[in-house]
Amino acid sequence: MFKKSNFKYFVYALSAFIFLNIASCKNQVVLQDPQKLTISEGFKNPLGFYDSTPAFSWQLPVSEGILSQSAYQILAASSPELLPDNADLWDSKKQISDQSVWVKYEGKPLESRQNVYWQVKYWNQDNEASSWSEVNHFELGLLNNSDWKAKWIGLDTKKEKVLGSQNNIIHRPQYLRKGFELSGEIASARLYITAKGVFDVSINGQDVSDDVMPPGYTPYKERIETITYDVSDVIESGQNTIGVEVAAGWHSGRLGWKKSLWSNTETPKVLCQLELIMKDGSKEMILSDDSWKGTTNGPIRVSEIYDGETYDANLEMEGWATNNFSDKDWVSVNTFPVESNIRLEPKRHTTVKNKMELATKELIKKDTTLIFDLKQNMVGVPLLKVPMKKGKTLKVRFAEMLSPDGTFYTDNYRSAQSTNYYTASEDGIIEWSPKFTFHGFRYVELSGFDDSKEPSKDWVTGIVQYSDFDANGTFTSSHEKLNQLQSNIVWGLRGNFFDIPTDCPQRDERMGWTGDAQVFGPTSMFNADVYKFWASWMQSVRESQYDNGGIPFVVPDVLYNNQVSSGWGDVCTIIPWKIYYRTGDKKILEENFEMMKGWVAHHEATATDYISSMNSFADWLQPLPDNGDTKGDTSHSLIGTAFFAHSAHLTAKTAKVLGKTEDFEKYDELYKKVANAFEKQFFDNGKVKNVAETQTSYLLALAFGLMSDEHKANAKTHLLEKIADADNHLRTGFLGTPLLSEVLDETGEIDLMYKLLFNETYPSWFYSINQGATTIWERWNSYSKAEGFNPMKMNSLNHYAYGAIGEWMYERIAGIAPLEPGYKTIRIAPVPKEPLTSVAASLNTPYGKVASSWETKGNEFHLQVVVPPNTTAKVVLPGTPESIEETNSIELITNEAGNDEFLVQPGTYSFTSKLP
Ligand code: BGC
Repeated sequence: MFKKSNFKYFVYALSAFIFLNIASCKNQVVLQDPQKLTISEGFKNPLGFYDSTPAFSWQLPVSEGILSQSAYQILAASSPELLPDNADLWDSKKQISDQSVWVKYEGKPLESRQNVYWQVKYWNQDNEASSWSEVNHFELGLLNNSDWKAKWIGLDTKKEKVLGSQNNIIHRPQYLRKGFELSGEIASARLYITAKGVFDVSINGQDVSDDVMPPGYTPYKERIETITYDVSDVIESGQNTIGVEVAAGWHSGRLGWKKSLWSNTETPKVLCQLELIMKDGSKEMILSDDSWKGTTNGPIRVSEIYDGETYDANLEMEGWATNNFSDKDWVSVNTFPVESNIRLEPKRHTTVKNKMELATKELIKKDTTLIFDLKQNMVGVPLLKVPMKKGKTLKVRFAEMLSPDGTFYTDNYRSAQSTNYYTASEDGIIEWSPKFTFHGFRYVELSGFDDSKEPSKDWVTGIVQYSDFDANGTFTSSHEKLNQLQSNIVWGLRGNFFDIPTDCPQRDERMGWTGDAQVFGPTSMFNADVYKFWASWMQSVRESQYDNGGIPFVVPDVLYNNQVSSGWGDVCTIIPWKIYYRTGDKKILEENFEMMKGWVAHHEATATDYISSMNSFADWLQPLPDNGDTKGDTSHSLIGTAFFAHSAHLTAKTAKVLGKTEDFEKYDELYKKVANAFEKQFFDNGKVKNVAETQTSYLLALAFGLMSDEHKANAKTHLLEKIADADNHLRTGFLGTPLLSEVLDETGEIDLMYKLLFNETYPSWFYSINQGATTIWERWNSYSKAEGFNPMKMNSLNHYAYGAIGEWMYERIAGIAPLEPGYKTIRIAPVPKEPLTSVAASLNTPYGKVASSWETKGNEFHLQVVVPPNTTAKVVLPGTPESIEETNSIELITNEAGNDEFLVQPGTYSFTSKLP
């Protein structure tokens, strides 16, 4: 432990002994191998991969003597035995470079189905080599439509004319099967499969995967994702049977607000191609074609995303996907060719899975029903283990909250029925979950069960479903409500990352609202490993862009009518830029640059002299609007112009990163012109003119850099006045809220931001927590103990937008921020303030885990910092430094009174200082 009271003038590097030790045995050192190998947007050994020009990433181990990388070498081969000596696909050779992330593959061209095995080694700062990493691999899926020899198959499910809620046609789920015989022994088998709809596949009665509602939701007119399964272990020599269930899902179900938007257009279908390599080297293919048979007389009678699923156990077809089943009553399927204009591409992010289980915490008897309370609003399905009497139907309803009188509050589901039915075929305990629907709920209500049995909490378990990604960060503090807020943010993420980013998971929407996505996206990147999720959805955004450059306000689009909204379509500049900022990977910018330009051109076309007249949902759901409008008080033209400038600015910055100088100049000039016009039109000496003066108008002006330098201070003063007028409360909706912390922090008003964050009264984050929220709500006052539910039916209790504050909690309260895109250099600058006495956060950066945890005891401040290898960090220590414990070198670089800044190398550090 190094103690120094008069610390300020010291510059020191205390790791010398480590270096000396290493230096003395230089030639024998073999450093520990690289860790956490991934490809492209963070995939680990993927099967059916989409990217034939992947990028490689690895992390240096956290270990003494490993500070940074000075060189690397990557090998890629077509079989593991060829490594490391005979890499036949690529040998990068030793590259003098500190780049350990997003290194592009530059080997032989790769094709559909190709297997690639790869490994990497690095040299550290002293040019000592590591051992080779373990061998990782990936296998490409079918990359081209021409790889598909199979045909789309399905039954005519329109014929029956089953009508559902709002009179839309319901397509009964189909059961499709085919038996086939294989003469030889199988070496390996791959099943390539997808659906226009959602599917579940089994072979010889065995489930092939635990994916939920694959292939997921893309702009189906443009692209349908395909999935690859390794089925080598379930295929047998001799007779086999493959069975596929397919339901409408997003494709042919009731989606959007209008009745029958999709369901009348196309029936659900399946496309699958089983490719077998036999032990003798020969190949066989089993295709979806006219030899398949199907029925709609199976147990799942109907299944609809909004409305729920109905299951009749009397119609179960024992063994229907095994060899021992007669399908003589089944009918032949119809076949349809693979279209050339709908791209079939391997899924480029992970499928939805069953991720967690929540046990029932409380059981409430209400009349003849039972209500199971999970005490957490969640998204997924229930697992039901319920005693039933033969022939009786169990009714399963859901609610996010109970009304004060204990009854189910379902008004906010609007037209979504969100109800399951299960008819029992015999007495006894059933075990069942719906398959092709999902619900947003905290409470499950059962009726129709065997009431002679004593009810038990374990009749209902909540299965939490979301896209299969891991957590990426942690944040905890000494403040219970702040922790609850963090938990609500994370549950908002879990609930609304169901293959696409949704506005809400429970009512008759569940769509990819672009505004909500741009507002919450940045926070999601701290809490979960969602790069691939966003990169994939951004592809859908590109595919949904209108010919005139407009971006629909939901993606995938459900309207196809050229309608846009400012602040919503701008997702196409904001999310790519934020992902680049968090990952340092330029690919996300390259992929989206043309779309950004198109959108900026669309802004330009809807503006006159740079002043926007674009349609806008504006500062959606701003609290206490003077005009009583759900779109808030802030001028739509002001908002549109601000986002026009902001998108032009982000496009300019993107052009710069991509080395496109002319584009940079063009968009930078455009940004400045729009900013100038914005200020002239809407501000006078830093004060809003001509339109309503709102917190959000000042926030947009300051956050997006639209004020000339001489007027910034005034604009800030007026913003503070507006906040003071609101009794130091926020008055911001979807667009203004994420900007509050950024602007107040950057203008030195961090105390005020703490005040707003810790406010308990309406409108504030803690207000909903005080009313019992376990997720983020759509409205600041979706419910209150005093007044009950907000009377509006548009009242989701799981809407992630206001969770956007999470980004600031990580970056400033915990103090972990990148100093350059991708965290190659990091800034650790926490801001300890009352009422907090401690905070601990960690974040998995592309280089490894960075952590910052602090604690105050009186005016003593302790800070623990972990800096990952191959990065450096600047630590800004509040107060007067007292002592430091370090594992590696540290250097004082500036010493402003009360804010000393240290440059630290990878390692773990403890700082102590005295706060004023
Ligand atoms: C959605 C949103 C969306 C908004 C746009 C709502 O119905 O749930 O969150 O952004 O409409 O106005």
